[in-house]
Amino acid sequence: MRLSYIHRGRRLSVFGCVVGSAALTLMAIEIAATSTAASQKSLTVWDGVYTGAQAERGKVAFSRRCSFCHGEDLDGSEDPGGPPLLGSVFLSHWDGLSMAEIFATVGETMPQNRPATVPTEELAEILSFLLHTNKIPPGQRELPDDPADLQDILFVARPETR
Ligand code: HEC
Repeated sequence: MRLSYIHRGRRLSVFGCVVGSAALTLMAIEIAATSTAASQKSLTVWDGVYTGAQAERGKVAFSRRCSFCHGEDLDGSEDPGGPPLLGSVFLSHWDGLSMAEIFATVGETMPQNRPATVPTEELAEILSFLLHTNKIPPGQRELPDDPADLQDILFVARPETR
């Protein structure tokens, strides 16, 4: 390295200075990275991540594709058998997951008798309906169906105290 040509004492002080500023730069980068991650993570389902109209469309789709097993009101059915999709037990299953993970899991496993048959746009509507029925409020923007966008939305069972 160029620094090693410099007289030892001087090199050390220059070196210290370089290391010091490099450390500062690293710290700055780390802080920037952390705050970016934090601002992405801070978007949760409680921030108005779907629209009321989207949930309305989801209600129709849910009724056609899912209510047979999960009940019209999402309270589950004994026969043919499907768990409720509302309430604290249900919400606890999704707590801490990204909407991308939820989207992928539900998309790949449901409807149980015909997995992976729901178009992504419709799945976003159905998930909006599930959020709405679980008393998570709508907002101005639609729930996306792109995994990259869904990755930034965190599902938490309760609104955080801020
Ligand atoms: C043929 C019956 C059937 C249909 C139709 C069906 N499901 Fe299910 N669903 C089940 C059963 C049984 C389970 C529980 C076992 C499991 O998770 O695989 C389940 C589990 C789930 C879960 C996980 C619940 C939890 O507590 O974690 C979700 C979410 C879900 N279904 C959503 C849907 C959606 C959305 C549709 C419509 C696109 C749908 N299901 C259609 C039978 C069905």
